[in-house]
Amino acid sequence: MREPMPTQAKQGLDYDGTAGVQEVHAAIQREKREPRAGLEPLSLWLIGLYALAVFFGGFYIGRYSGSFAGDSLDPGGAPAVVRKSAAGASMEGQVAELSPALRGKKVFLANCATCHQPSGTGVAGQYPPLAGSEYVLGGTRRLGMIVLKGLQGPLTVKGAHYGSAVMQPWEKTLTDAKVADVLTYVRSDWGNNAPPVAAEGIAALRKELAGRGASFTEADLQSVPADANLAGGENGAAQPGAARVVEVTIRNMKFNPPSVEVRVGDTVEWKNDDITPHTATSATFDSGSIDPDGSWRRTFTEGGDIPYSCTFHPEMKGVVSVK
Ligand code: HEC
Repeated sequence: MREPMPTQAKQGLDYDGTAGVQEVHAAIQREKREPRAGLEPLSLWLIGLYALAVFFGGFYIGRYSGSFAGDSLDPGGAPAVVRKSAAGASMEGQVAELSPALRGKKVFLANCATCHQPSGTGVAGQYPPLAGSEYVLGGTRRLGMIVLKGLQGPLTVKGAHYGSAVMQPWEKTLTDAKVADVLTYVRSDWGNNAPPVAAEGIAALRKELAGRGASFTEADLQSVPADANLAGGENGAAQPGAARVVEVTIRNMKFNPPSVEVRVGDTVEWKNDDITPHTATSATFDSGSIDPDGSWRRTFTEGGDIPYSCTFHPEMKGVVSVK
C-alpha cells in the first residue's frame, strides 16, 4: 500500500491538518469577547461641555486680547505709535491720524465733561466754565499746574465764584500727551482760540512739581504770571511773538507757497516733495542741493523781500518777505 500524500499543512507543523487550526481559532473567537473598554462613544454631555469651553475660550480671547497690540496692557492707552514708512512725508498724509485737539476731545469727554459739561460751560456755582475762562485762555503754565495737581478752595472764573467743590489731580490718570491734548482741545473749542500745548512742556512741569503733594489754590495760581507759558514745540511755534517755522513745500517743480511772509527771527523750512533735487538760492542764501524727501532751513534776521530760485531749474521762483 502506498502511504497517503502528505498535506501541505503537515510540513513543519504539528497540527493534524489545516481544518483543525481554523476550527480552533473560530472557537476561540466565539467564546472570548474582544475587550471593549475605552472604545465606547463619548458621552453627549462631554461633547457639549467641550464645545462650550472652546466657544467661551474663543469669546474670551476675542474680547480681552486687545487685538494682541503691544500697548493693550497700558492702562492709560499709550499714545499711538506712528510708524514712518521709508517713503516718509508723502505717506504721512494717507494715514488717518487724529489731530491733537481731536484726541484731546476724547480725553475731555471721558474725564472732564461730567463736571465741566460737554459744552464747556460748567455748572453754575459748582463747576467753573472752561469756555471763555481766563485760566484756559491765559498762559499754559497755570493750566498745567491745575490739571496735574488739582485745584481746591475759593476760585473766581469769569467773575463768578466757585469753591464748593474741588478738582482732583490728574497726574496719575493722564499721561503727558493726554494732558497736553486735552488742554489743546479746551483751548480750541467753544469759541476758545488759544495756541496748542505740547507734551514736552507738561512733562517738564510734571518733573518740576514731582515733590508737591497738595492741590493748588487760587493764591498759588495768582503767584504765577498769567501769561507764563510752558516750554515746548507746538506751543512755542504757534505763540504770537515767538519765532515761527514757516514751511515751503517743493512739489511739481514749484515752490508752494511761492511767496511767504515772515517776521525777523522766523525760520523758513524748504521741504522737497519732488523726485528730483532742487535748491533755494538767492543773493543772500543758498541751500545747496536739497534731495528728494530732504529739507533745508534758514532763519531770517533782516527785513526785506528776498527773491530766490532753484539753481537746477531757474524757472522755479519764490519770494521770502521778511517784515
Ligand atoms: C469732579 C469734577 C471735575 C472734573 C472731572 C474735572 N474738573 Fe476741572 N474743575 C472742577 C472744579 C470743582 C474746579 C474749581 C476748583 C476750585 O474751585 O478750586 C475746576 C477747575 C478747573 C480749571 C480752572 C478753572 C477754569 O474754569 O478755568 C480748569 C482749567 C479745569 N478744571 C480743567 C479740567 C480738565 C482739563 C479736566 C479733565 C482732565 C477737568 N477739569 C476735570 C471740577 C472738575
